[in-house]
Amino acid sequence: MAVFLTLYPFLVEMFFCSAIGHVVENFWDSSECVKFFYMEKVPDLGASQPHMVHICQRYLNTYHFATLYDTYHRTAVYSAYTFESSNGGGRDKRWFVEPQLVNLTWPGEMEDGYTLSQQNPDIYLGEKQALNEDYTNSGFDRGHLNPNGHHAVPSRNATFTLTNVVPQNPTLNQNAWNKHESKLTSLFNRHCQKAYVLVGAIPSPNNWIIKNNVKRVNIPEYIWNAYCCIDQNGRPILSGAATALNTELNVVEERSLDAMVDFLQLFYPINELFSSQCNA
Ligand SMILES: *[C@@H]1O[C@H](CO)[C@@H](O)[C@H](O)[C@H]1NC(C)=O
Ligand SMILES: *[C@@H]1O[C@H](CO)[C@@H](O)[C@H](O)[C@H]1NC(C)=O
Repeated sequence: MAVFLTLYPFLVEMFFCSAIGHVVENFWDSSECVKFFYMEKVPDLGASQPHMVHICQRYLNTYHFATLYDTYHRTAVYSAYTFESSNGGGRDKRWFVEPQLVNLTWPGEMEDGYTLSQQNPDIYLGEKQALNEDYTNSGFDRGHLNPNGHHAVPSRNATFTLTNVVPQNPTLNQNAWNKHESKLTSLFNRHCQKAYVLVGAIPSPNNWIIKNNVKRVNIPEYIWNAYCCIDQNGRPILSGAATALNTELNVVEERSLDAMVDFLQLFYPINELFSSQCNA
């Protein structure tokens, strides 16, 4: 009995971690994670391929968004979130990493990469994920997929995790893509009770950030997003999508959801991004 009592909290913790840890088998495993998808429909964007992991992005003991992460290219395939009005809060100076991509037994909550490496000097954190040092002097921005500007603190802070960023052309990140994000902010604030957003990146065939002769982080060919916005009665009222070639060209091309699916079909087997393509 004494043995049982001592083991009990440990077993509960083990169960808790494996059932709703940060890296999950499937987004449906946690209601707190699948809620970022409209009608709980998770689009299939190559999720069953090897090297793909599902991350429920947890920070301060709360889930803030969901990311499908590609551990081969070391970039996100997409992040899924619901829009929140921002109340400012600046840029977090830390860059978080996902401890469970180092070791599945580690805590299921994003941690400051700098602190984590100080605590584990003998363990390389970057086997399955990009690290801050990969981006340093690379000529590319750490481009947020789920943008900090679409959130209030602390979700805003949680977007500063390297599993939510990709190498983005600085001109595109700071100009056309940034303007597009701001345009969506005013659209969502003005018209939507709630907006479900997907933001993704399409890897390039052979363009990488290379460090010490190692292909570390794939430089995506395209950045894209898509949204479904609903009114107070939960009815879809607005939808749209956009793509941008990840170059100096600095152009964002807006599309309908159907045109977006046509575009994505060049890369993935997919028939819809949102349940009933966000139609009332
Ligand atoms: C969020 O980031 C801001 C800007 O760095 C910082 O001042 C604040 O303490 C952070 N808050 C939390 C809850 O992480
Ligand atoms: C993960 O961490 C546990 C506990 O520290 C350790 O026993 C195990 O060997 C680690 N696994 C890997 C793959 O490093």
